Amino acid sequence: MKSFRGYRLDTVSHCLWRGDERLSLAPKAFDVLRYLVEHSDRLVTQDEILEALWPDTYVNPEVVKKYVLGIRKVLGDDSAKPAFVATFPRRGYQFIAAIDDETQIPSPKKAADPRTKTIVGRDNALARLREALAKAQSGDRQILFLTGEAGIGKTTLVRAFEKQNNSHSRMRIARGYCVEGFGGKEAYYPVLDCLGQLLRGGEDRGLVQTLAKRAPTWLVQFPHLVDSEQREAIEKQVLGASRERMVREICEALEIITTRDPLVLCLEDLHWVDPSTLDFLSAVARRRASAKLLIIATYRPVDAIVAQSPLPALKQDLVIHDLAREISLERLEESDVALYIESEFPKANFPTALAPAIYRQSGGNALFMVAILQNLLKKQWIAKREGQWMLLEPLSHLERNVPDTLDQLIEAQFRQLTAIEQRVLRAASVAGEQFSLWAIHDAAELDAAEIENTCEGLAERQLFIGFAGVHELANGQVSAHYDFQHSFYREVLYRRLSEVSRARLHLLLAKRMQAFCDPCEQELATELAMHFESGHDYEQAIRYLILAAENATRLFSYRDSIKILEQARELAAKLHPSRGARLEVRVLEKIGDAYFALGSLPDSAQAYSDAASRAAVAGNRSDQAHALVRAMYPLGAIDPDRGLAAMRQAVETCEKIGDARLTAHTQMLSIGCHLVFDEWRQADADVYDANHSALCDSGDSDNGPLKQMVHGHVLSLRGKYREANAAFENSVSGVDLSTGLITSFGALSGKTFALLRMGDLGEVLRIVRAGKESYEENRTRWRLLHVREAWIRLLAFDYQGTLDLYESISEDRDRWAVQPRAICEMAEGYMAEQQKDFPRALTHFSRVYQLDPGTKFFLSWLWRIAAHVELGNVWLRSGETAKSKSASESILKSALSVADPHIHVLALELAARVSMAESEMPHAQERIENAIRLAEQYEIPLAAWRAYATASEIFRARGENGRADRAIQLAEEAVARIANSFDPDEPLRATFLSAEPVHRICRRNFKSALSSS
Ligand SMILES: Nc1ncnc2c1ncn2[C@@H]1O[C@H](COP(=O)(O)OP(=O)(O)O)[C@@H](O)[C@H]1O
Ligand SMILES: [Mg+2]
Repeated sequence: MKSFRGYRLDTVSHCLWRGDERLSLAPKAFDVLRYLVEHSDRLVTQDEILEALWPDTYVNPEVVKKYVLGIRKVLGDDSAKPAFVATFPRRGYQFIAAIDDETQIPSPKKAADPRTKTIVGRDNALARLREALAKAQSGDRQILFLTGEAGIGKTTLVRAFEKQNNSHSRMRIARGYCVEGFGGKEAYYPVLDCLGQLLRGGEDRGLVQTLAKRAPTWLVQFPHLVDSEQREAIEKQVLGASRERMVREICEALEIITTRDPLVLCLEDLHWVDPSTLDFLSAVARRRASAKLLIIATYRPVDAIVAQSPLPALKQDLVIHDLAREISLERLEESDVALYIESEFPKANFPTALAPAIYRQSGGNALFMVAILQNLLKKQWIAKREGQWMLLEPLSHLERNVPDTLDQLIEAQFRQLTAIEQRVLRAASVAGEQFSLWAIHDAAELDAAEIENTCEGLAERQLFIGFAGVHELANGQVSAHYDFQHSFYREVLYRRLSEVSRARLHLLLAKRMQAFCDPCEQELATELAMHFESGHDYEQAIRYLILAAENATRLFSYRDSIKILEQARELAAKLHPSRGARLEVRVLEKIGDAYFALGSLPDSAQAYSDAASRAAVAGNRSDQAHALVRAMYPLGAIDPDRGLAAMRQAVETCEKIGDARLTAHTQMLSIGCHLVFDEWRQADADVYDANHSALCDSGDSDNGPLKQMVHGHVLSLRGKYREANAAFENSVSGVDLSTGLITSFGALSGKTFALLRMGDLGEVLRIVRAGKESYEENRTRWRLLHVREAWIRLLAFDYQGTLDLYESISEDRDRWAVQPRAICEMAEGYMAEQQKDFPRALTHFSRVYQLDPGTKFFLSWLWRIAAHVELGNVWLRSGETAKSKSASESILKSALSVADPHIHVLALELAARVSMAESEMPHAQERIENAIRLAEQYEIPLAAWRAYATASEIFRARGENGRADRAIQLAEEAVARIANSFDPDEPLRATFLSAEPVHRICRRNFKSALSSS
């Protein structure tokens, strides 16, 4: 029992007590009081009370006021200084007295939808919906398209169906609407709407868990549901995901959440649908797994055709393949109209020809029929006389006076409104189907109270609009929302507006929203862009289109994002060049980002270089430099030469600007890229270092993600793998949308390289396996990981595996051919060498060694040196000692000219063996000792074990058996480290250990060394 200030609310016997006195309170008044008490934590609107307490009947809202008045009287409350029930004018009520909770009152089940007006003529359709639900309940997923013109009764049918099934306690229903004008811009709009409802329902935390596990790309759209740590982890996990992945994830998640309990998703007004939602529909319909899922999709066929939406074609295709069904709603029959009139006006004394007349006039369109009857009521042509409904005008009069079309009827109604009402509605029609009073304030040019009164009056008279609730805006303000009785009403009013007043109203609305929407700008981007564009403020429109494009990117809908940006670009062309150019450059860069995310690297590169040229023409050098740097990222993968040229141009541009700091930063990026793609030039590396320390000394804190990432590469190339990995980690922590993808791609590339050098082949393999979704999921990453796997296999002596992998990427070979082809050449070279087919081995290795320096790829120069080392090896093994001797000198020279300790060791080891073959033992020893010193200094087990193995041979030949044994032990430890990086049952581990060169050096008791490390 709840008590407050000496009163007790007795919910068992439904009465109110003051001490021992039982107070008299009407049953409904009691219910209202109880409702307010149970929701005392917040404001309760009149509508909510109506919905909760009179779910099945229409009640004049005034009754709530009446009951509240009664409650106040009983409690002795003063409305001016309330102690119990506070009134918030036009908004609702709140119970404010402190409450003692003696026993928990179970809160009543959430009230059903209150709008349960009579529905006629839909028995068949309802039966088909029920049938579909029954099938869905048995696990056979159902997709139903519910089609028909505006006002035919699609929404009404769905609501009636929902109502029939409300008692089904386990069934969940969610409803999502498409919004006019959002189609191309708000990806998955109705689907997210539904998901949001299910998540808000919040009964089961299980849904969040399911999304976390199966659909992180969707969970990340609801960041407030997870803590910041989890959020960051998910964000990293989904970076650069694709639309395909997102669609697949929601399909899987839906299957899981509908294993036990059925779920109905109503996707409404799909004639305004976005392409991503269509992808979802198409995918969900085609999957075969069991799911207790019913999707009801409504749309107007004609509007879908006008909008050139692919929806009708999709529907057709699904229906033909028996993957979906269509219920095409027919207009009401004359008998339905008669039945409707009968139930709305019970026991009326109407002429029998009334129903046929209304049927004729409305053509059986439900909305039109209802509008005609409302109109007659308003005109008092239908009224009650002595308790009975009568038609007070002759029927012929009626037929002459009711307009032919619903448009005209609405217009006629509109003309009868006061000037102020018209003004408010005009502004509202620009705002949208649902609008907040706060937003239309400036467009209506009335003060707030006047707008509020006007809307309240219209809603009470059921004219055009209805009350939709009170919403708290993101800025904390509270505002009433109204919606049009039907979108058709809004459309008619909007169409009436002249082009000039439309533009003016849109602009006023946009500015008003903008002034208030600081924290929710991103959320309202599409809407703001739409209003600014219609208001001809293109500059602002572009700004918000860019935000809308970012939203699409966040939903992995890169193509949508590109479309939005193309639209922004067109708008930029309408601006004066002085303003348009800068915006266009920004837009072009964003287009480049989106193409990069999509994996369309040539398009990405093109967009960046367009941005650079546009900026150059406009004389905007810093924008130009920025775009040039950006171009490097896609070009690094497809045409490094062009990328490096762009980098050099960027540095020159910075120099021309004369900004020393910017120049230093850009120069570092440029040098970093040259070191990676072109060759290791010590002089450049020195400049890099000088810049680095100068910037550090000056406290320059600009260690942006891209810089960290490039820095990581420079460290890696010097053998500082752990520091490099720390830089890579830093570069991706706190990913940001614009650079996140490029950085994370670069960091992944760098990190896997560092790990390979450290001999951690197993870890790279795990990264490859975890991250290698299908090609469609994330093309850029897919390519990278493929190449890394080929590299691992090469290092683990699985040459055939390397070649097979290359075969499997045939679809993508042309694009990214050079690096994988070089790896394959190496694999073929090693294979030939194994078979002692030395001439063939030489052919393959020389192909890599003699790669045209113009053909660059990631570390191509390092591959060339590696191939050179292998050439030396083959010459030595094939007995061409003289050749190997001269080669080994030049190999050593070029290897030592770079900073990579791994390649140093390999070259020194080769030189030592050549010396040994020449019986120049002191020379051999000197070289191998140098190699060993490096092997001790750096973590490079892949090179180290070879050096130790050769060292042991040399020591033994010189009779130093102790040192020889020690060297073999170290070689084994290095081998063990590599082998143990693999999972125990990973086949590559065995391949590596049983490869001849490894097998040969390892002693019998090696097994124990293996398990102990
Ligand atoms: N079967 C029906 N019986 C009675 N009235 C209906 C029926 N269908 C629709 N209406 C009335 O027509 C109006 C418009 O219908 P609605 O379902 O919103 O149309 P749609 O969604 O097809 O555009 C509703 O508000 C309701 O008053
Ligand atoms: Mg509808």
